[in-house]
Amino acid sequence: MVAPHVTASPLSPATPEWTLHLHTKAVSTNDLAAPLPGWHAVVADRQTGGRGRHRRAWVSDEGGLWLSAVLPTPGPVADWAILPLAAGWAVRAALADLGVFNIRLRWPNDVMVGRAKLAGILVERFRPDTAVVGLGLNLVNRPELHDDTLAGQTTRLADLLSPAPTRAVVLDTILARLAHAQHLVADRSVADLLPTLNTAWTGARVSIDLDNRATPLVGRLTAVDAQGRLQLDADDGARHVLSPLQVARLREAF
Ligand code: BTN
Repeated sequence: MVAPHVTASPLSPATPEWTLHLHTKAVSTNDLAAPLPGWHAVVADRQTGGRGRHRRAWVSDEGGLWLSAVLPTPGPVADWAILPLAAGWAVRAALADLGVFNIRLRWPNDVMVGRAKLAGILVERFRPDTAVVGLGLNLVNRPELHDDTLAGQTTRLADLLSPAPTRAVVLDTILARLAHAQHLVADRSVADLLPTLNTAWTGARVSIDLDNRATPLVGRLTAVDAQGRLQLDADDGARHVLSPLQVARLREAF
């Protein structure tokens, strides 16, 4: 650890002051963030045991942004069920703030350019009063050099913006938007972000494995609602409204 408790300057009066914990190396920033209070954030230059959704390993080579931001989650846990989607919205909004406008989301919160993944988000709840939003975003790193199964499947900010912004600028922009998303969920103003959130995946053709159904549902993901339920217009003409808890796996069907 090189510089604990460095305080980032607020970007606007509405933005809370984040307390940053910077590490040269961590197993997983999400684990370091787990016991911290709200508005603390952990960043590591590299992770040796970075993890993604579905217990997959997350390549965290030097040159990427490996961030875990702790958001306060007051009130009932159920009120925060939308947070993983709101986090995807926040990262997409931050990237637009930086000048990247061609970002789409792959449900629930993969940050994509075309078919290539720029960033992934893993939200974990270690305590009832906080949520840890773990974000891995490729900046100048090349994850495919460390895992050849990733060849052609990832992209990085340096390939999208010239000159590429520094990690510090990206970090500030993302923390401001995560705070914005936290306020929208806390104020029950999620309806404000749904229209833009829904433009991020509207029309995506998907195949969804459900826990209680032998064959996948195939169709178009047209929207999510304020409870985070997916609206799927299936190829058989039926409209399904699916709780995220029913969804075992969602794949894009191009
Ligand atoms: C995914 O797309 O599967 C989510 C990837 C999340 C990776 C980030 S990197 C920072 C934080 N620490 C981790 O161990 N994981 C998240």
